[in-house]
Amino acid sequence: MDNPVPRARGLMFVWLVGASQVLGLASVVLTAVWMGHYSGGFAWDGSRREFNVHPLCMVLGLVFLQGDAILVYRVFRNEAKRNVKLLHGIIHLLALIASIVGIVAVFDNHNAAKIQHMYSLHGWCGMGTLVLFCIQWVMGLLFFLFPVASSRLRALYLPIHVFCGLALLIMAIGTCLLGITEKLLFSIMSTYSQFPPEGVLANTLGIVLVCFGVLLGYLITKEEYRRPPNPEEESLSVHFKTLTEGRSPTTP
Ligand code: HEM
Repeated sequence: MDNPVPRARGLMFVWLVGASQVLGLASVVLTAVWMGHYSGGFAWDGSRREFNVHPLCMVLGLVFLQGDAILVYRVFRNEAKRNVKLLHGIIHLLALIASIVGIVAVFDNHNAAKIQHMYSLHGWCGMGTLVLFCIQWVMGLLFFLFPVASSRLRALYLPIHVFCGLALLIMAIGTCLLGITEKLLFSIMSTYSQFPPEGVLANTLGIVLVCFGVLLGYLITKEEYRRPPNPEEESLSVHFKTLTEGRSPTTP
């Protein structure tokens, strides 16, 4: 008879991943409704409507897609690592493209409206997050997708890469919260305290983003959802041990 404990755990995992996807998609839809319905819609003409592309692309790219790119290692933990790596890289590439479009939109809008660049805490945190995200992407490409580094260096860098991935997701969500507050103060400062629908929608977006981040953090850090060790990983760690502790690869 099947052991009910692993089955229940498996079911729990499926529900949690499903919930994370509902939250991630909800954050994108809420941003689209906020910018599309309450803020005048989208365009690419330097106007306020071009600005509206910014939050949508940033939430889609740096939060939803970045989160899902990390999650593939848990969802497909029993698939061939090579394929999962490729999927991880492709989703990250989409995240990078969306983020670049989003940043160009806000810079374009600021240029057209003759607004200073990079004056706010949101702008500083956002630029920091984006630059680190680009570095993380290039390093990931060099170390893991087209491994140019030795296996020792890769083994050393892997925990840093994993830590930075989660840190970047947290930074992106924090940056979004700052951006949401700033945008609300610009657009509905005088009525915000009276619970207007736009304010309630944007606050809900913030809460959904936080819940997405917490759920992803749980799924990523929970030991039992990690990839089981496979021969490729084992040979890497044996090689690493050999190099660091001076043991022969056959030493038990
Ligand atoms: C991780 C996601 C985000 C990143 C990396 C990011 C990054 C940035 C950057 C670098 C700027 C400065 C542009 C300039 O100086 O010309 C900026 C501006 C702005 N962003 Fe975001 N942003 C993000 C998400 C959001 C979200 C979700 C909103 C919500 C509406 C938002 C609202 C704003 C506003 C109102 C400005 C113009 C005022 C300012 O420069 O601070 N951002 N963003």
